[in-house]
Amino acid sequence: MNLGKSVIKPVAKDRLPELLRRMPKAELHIHIEGSLEPELIFALAQRNGLALRHASVDALRRAYAFTNLQSFLDIYYAGASVLLTEQDFYDMTRAYLLKAAQDNVVHAELFFDPQTHTARGVGMETIINGLHRACVDARADFGVSASLIMCFLRHLSEKGAFETLEQALPLRNKLIGVGLDSGEVGNPPEKFARVFERCRALGFHRVAHAGEEGPPEYIWTALDVLKVERVDHGVQCGKDAMLMRRLAQDRIPLTVCPLSNFKLCVFPDLASHNLRQLLDAGLVATINSDDPAYFGGYMNDNFTQTFAALNLDAQQAWTLAHNSFEAGFIEPSARQRYFDRLNETFETFQ
Ligand code: ADE
Ligand code: ZN
Repeated sequence: MNLGKSVIKPVAKDRLPELLRRMPKAELHIHIEGSLEPELIFALAQRNGLALRHASVDALRRAYAFTNLQSFLDIYYAGASVLLTEQDFYDMTRAYLLKAAQDNVVHAELFFDPQTHTARGVGMETIINGLHRACVDARADFGVSASLIMCFLRHLSEKGAFETLEQALPLRNKLIGVGLDSGEVGNPPEKFARVFERCRALGFHRVAHAGEEGPPEYIWTALDVLKVERVDHGVQCGKDAMLMRRLAQDRIPLTVCPLSNFKLCVFPDLASHNLRQLLDAGLVATINSDDPAYFGGYMNDNFTQTFAALNLDAQQAWTLAHNSFEAGFIEPSARQRYFDRLNETFETFQ
């Protein structure tokens, strides 16, 4: 059964956080390296005999004061440098998927940045096998379905992206798609036109970060040149009315990350975030955590804090969760089961 918009019962404000926590949802924008909590960074550094720049967990956490995307990326890539063995990648992914399950995330699509690791001599097999084994185990152990999207680092060259793709091809059945991340401004999507064309020919799903800090033009070229099926962030589309109409008409999902946008100063505070405007314009917007260990919250933190700041309601909660399943790269019968679970939660919620 598919609940229409009009059937969503109003929910008292003080009960809304519980509904947000309880409703099943998909997370479609999580960089798995961004789930590395400082405690795990220190534990992995010790296990691998590596020295860290910061003296303690607390000192590292205190460094998490970002002014823009690049100021975050510098610390994020340093944190990821503790990952060396297949077990490291497994442990990181398992820790995230347990947290996701506790937030009633029933499906997750995880980004990973292989070039951050292959540049340090870590093998592609080590990376993908560790991530994938954790995804397989999470289905059995936590009831979460999880799949992998390999991201190309856009501050590096087209040649580097092609080499990365070649290294991953023997393991392609462990991936569902490719993405594009890292420093956006000055690295437009079209830099990777030929790589994405090859990925499309190979049958990979395609997504790209666009319009996080970069201009609306980058969203247009992500759509028209890279032929992406979803846009990661995309919030700068608010500056271009024609682009908003295009995204709404073609039902191109945006994987919005409110706490990330606040922590990276894309919006000065959560109350200024444009998520409500995106929903009002009929865009397929979703809520996600991006790099939860760095931005102060996992999925339910993003939902509860954003709903409080923007005064959103139960109807918008249902729409956001529904959008997450519509936007996921999910087989149709599984998607219908998620829709059914979502509707049942709303029908039975008191
Ligand atoms: N890599 C990890 N988090 C990112 C973000 N928010 N934007 C671009 N690249 C990223
Ligand atoms: Zn991201």
